[in-house]
Amino acid sequence: MFERPYIVGNWKMHGTRAMLSEARAIDRGAERLMKVEVALAPPFTLIHATRKEAGLIGVGAQDCHPAEGGAHTGDISAAMLKDSGAGFVIVGHSERRADHGETDADVKAKAEAALAVGLNAIVCVGETEADRDAGKAEAVVARQLDGSLPQGESAAAKVTVAYEPVWAIGTGRTPTVEDIGAMHCAIRQRLNAIYGEDGAAIRILYGGSVKPENAAELLGADEVGGALVGGASLTAESFLGIVAAAHEALEA
Ligand code: 13P
Repeated sequence: MFERPYIVGNWKMHGTRAMLSEARAIDRGAERLMKVEVALAPPFTLIHATRKEAGLIGVGAQDCHPAEGGAHTGDISAAMLKDSGAGFVIVGHSERRADHGETDADVKAKAEAALAVGLNAIVCVGETEADRDAGKAEAVVARQLDGSLPQGESAAAKVTVAYEPVWAIGTGRTPTVEDIGAMHCAIRQRLNAIYGEDGAAIRILYGGSVKPENAAELLGADEVGGALVGGASLTAESFLGIVAAAHEALEA
């Protein structure tokens, strides 16, 4: 595992102000587990309040529009996210790729828009079950990386990659530790090819059915630098269980 693992909670379309108490509890719990970098990506409507309630952890968004502004009803620009207190944005999540038809080129444009205003970007990639069954998982992920990663000076320093096999999201199923390690090593090679020596420092998160019970095992796979957590990030109890597992793995 990386020196300082990064554990990010993606609240997806969950959360009203009543959930700020969970964010506060996560923030307080993270204070005891400082060897781990902790962050939450609540829905847009809670970013500002989460930033105010939680002073220690990172706070980010789940998507942004690639344009600086304009006639895009209902969309949110990277600059607006920054203004509301976000420090990063998740782009290219498989749910956005599926629900909104986002292409690799769209994802890249969003990531570059984020970097341009000083946000970090978590770029998501991952194969479907059909891709894996057809033996195409690594090829699909390599293509997504080539098409989705932002270019430009010092881009590598602001990027995190999240590998989330689509079939493992919200299903309770996970790849084996060997499969995760093999994919993360393949991603590392691709990052080195794309970014040269800067590729070595990019953290690669695993996401898909991470829970307190399996976190230590999954985080122990080769080249895993942390986790992107959906369902288990919605309560402080389960999310801090994952953070604690990462913390303990570092001490072991
Ligand atoms: P689950 O942890 O609910 O499987 O979701 C993973 C995910 O999609 C995080 O972005």
